Amino acid sequence: LTDRRKTDHVRLALSDPEADRRKHYFDRIRLVHRALPEIDLEQVDTSVEFLGRRLSFPLIVGPMTGGSSAGLRRINETLAAAAEECGVGMAVGSQRVMFDDPASRPSFRLRHLAPNALLLANLGAVQLNYGFGLSQCREAVEVLEADGLYLHLNPLQEAVQPEGECRFSGLADRIGEVAGKLEVPVIVKEVGCGLDVRDVEILFHRGVRYFDVAGSGGTSWSRIEHLRQPAEDGHDLGLVFQDWGIPTPLALMRLRAWRERVVLIASGGIRTGMDMAKAMVLGASACCIALPFLKAAEESRKSVTALIESLRREFRLALFLLGVARAVDLVGAEGLILDNPFRSEANASG
Ligand SMILES: Cc1cc2nc3c(=O)[nH]c(=O)nc-3n(C[C@H](O)[C@H](O)[C@H](O)COP(=O)(O)O)c2cc1C
Repeated sequence: LTDRRKTDHVRLALSDPEADRRKHYFDRIRLVHRALPEIDLEQVDTSVEFLGRRLSFPLIVGPMTGGSSAGLRRINETLAAAAEECGVGMAVGSQRVMFDDPASRPSFRLRHLAPNALLLANLGAVQLNYGFGLSQCREAVEVLEADGLYLHLNPLQEAVQPEGECRFSGLADRIGEVAGKLEVPVIVKEVGCGLDVRDVEILFHRGVRYFDVAGSGGTSWSRIEHLRQPAEDGHDLGLVFQDWGIPTPLALMRLRAWRERVVLIASGGIRTGMDMAKAMVLGASACCIALPFLKAAEESRKSVTALIESLRREFRLALFLLGVARAVDLVGAEGLILDNPFRSEANASG
């Protein structure tokens, strides 16, 4: 990924009002309100432990960027400092750029700004079919002094780009090799189309234990890539597929039987602390939010911490109104669901 491409991504994600699809899928799910919560609001413990780090509540700022330009570096530094201040996690965007352009490395050297925060490295899984291997994965982790490595799967995003890398065959074995040898956990994610049962099953048998469903409903990469480079023949491939994918709540529900064996992270269109609580009831142990943090980071570190604090207040209030005293007790607590229209869809198919 060149710096240019990342800069374009950031610009388009910020300027196109429809890059965020705003499907609000989590609004369709209602949880059981307790008029008598039997706990004090202040008593609610929102903290969780995740990958060996304590989070003040189960939020990870989603992987977005990094590069040699001052702007991209500042975004990462702002997010890392805010994550440390607020006790949440942070992931960096694809570190592939680091191997083409050494000047981009400082944008991934964030540990000094976030000595206690959960930090996650990131590479495109498909790169493992294009010459990358364990040593690049290791280097990505080392530069960030990361607690884990995100490997993202983005077949749609690649396919709508003229220069896209679409050789996905044999990839599961490569991912498995890395997961088996890397010193920190590998977390496989999508980028907004969702992971499903088959994907998790194949990777589980190759040793992967962490999955971020990254479903649809939020940022659309198909749309952003289309806007970045409309096809010369006028074919709107990226627009046709802009809402392709598995809605995040449905992806979580379809993975219900896997909850005992793998750790699930929810992302894709999560926009409030209430959404986070719902994602956890559906089985996620933590949540990732990307695009809203890009907007905040462009403004200031203060905007980022304000966003995190709003999310935390919403999350705390949701727990209070559910009568749940500890965030850990939310995970997979289906008794808290009042009404979930996705239920019939999930059951019908899996
Ligand atoms: C500007 C931007 C850049 C992104 N770059 C990456 C990336 O490099 N690696 C990755 O795994 N995901 C990347 N993503 C995807 C997000 O991490 C996330 O999976 C997706 O945007 C859905 O979450 P959201 O709806 O909260 O934005 C990016 C998202 C945005 C908005």
